[in-house]
Amino acid sequence: MTGAPHLSDTAAAKLDLSDQDRCQHIRKPRWIGYGRSQEILGKLEDLLEHPLQPRMPNMLIVGETNNGKTMLVTKFREKHPASENPTGEAINVPVLYIQAPPGPDERGLYNAMLGRLFESAPRSESTDAKRDRVVAVLKRVNLGIIMVDELQHLLAGPYVKQRNCLNVLKYIGNELCVPIVGIGTAEAVRAIQTDPQLANRFTPEVLPKWEKNAELGRLLASFERVLPLRKPSRLSAPPLASRIADLASGTIGEMSALLNAAAIHAIKTGAEQITPEALTSCGYVPPSMRKQAASML
Ligand SMILES: Nc1ncnc2c1ncn2[C@@H]1O[C@H](COP(=O)(O)OP(=O)(O)OP(=O)(O)O)[C@@H](O)[C@H]1O
Ligand SMILES: [Mg+2]
Repeated sequence: MTGAPHLSDTAAAKLDLSDQDRCQHIRKPRWIGYGRSQEILGKLEDLLEHPLQPRMPNMLIVGETNNGKTMLVTKFREKHPASENPTGEAINVPVLYIQAPPGPDERGLYNAMLGRLFESAPRSESTDAKRDRVVAVLKRVNLGIIMVDELQHLLAGPYVKQRNCLNVLKYIGNELCVPIVGIGTAEAVRAIQTDPQLANRFTPEVLPKWEKNAELGRLLASFERVLPLRKPSRLSAPPLASRIADLASGTIGEMSALLNAAAIHAIKTGAEQITPEALTSCGYVPPSMRKQAASML
């Protein structure tokens, strides 16, 4: 489409929508690739392709809350969906993704895995039997990688239970010869580091907080290309970029929320571009102010 060189073709096409539909479009989830995400996605592909060996390499994707960890692994999962296996008895599941149960609960961990595979198990089944069932089922589905999100959940609560859960992951990884990818916050890394056997199996891959540098400029330029506003905002230019980084405290989730609110504001006011003024009057409450509000209670 002509007339909107600041936008991607898809975003430019959205300019024909009503204002309301444009706002709805802005609220929908979207994926924007950035340098570090592409690097980690590449490393995940390598893990998936890794030749089977008794001691498979594992990975720990670490970052602050709201900084894109789950979105990143979702992107990877979407690329490797489960599929029918015409020659085998079970489906192919290249990537098994689970969320860790809310506490260090071995049975909960098995249930999460079985649930993903639509396998039912009697409630009364012993933990040992459940473990055997998980291993047997996973051996049938051509598993390539196991991903455990919210790993820090397993690491809350009594130490012995935490260790138990980590040993379960180690056991399953060894038994199936598949890499395990843990996803979590800094607490997860600290807990893994306390066990040398785990520390040398899990390589941390960090999604760092965003700083005011060229990488941030590129990310903001990408946001600008996908937000369907009629006028360019020059988000990556220093005055706006710096303001956005400060308000959003350096996480991609906060930046996305801020830019969505500012873009919707720009549509509703007719300004059709994100200005420094829009950042403060769009109704977005920065994390620093949320903390302040909580401390006033
Ligand atoms: N690559 C991306 N492109 C666009 N938006 C993104 C991207 N990654 C993350 N976001 C935005 O950031 C929000 C938070 O991302 P995500 O849920 O992946 O964070 P997280 O690190 O898993 O947080 P938590 O530790 O709290 O689970 C998303 O809802 C989305 O709005
Ligand atoms: Mg998450």
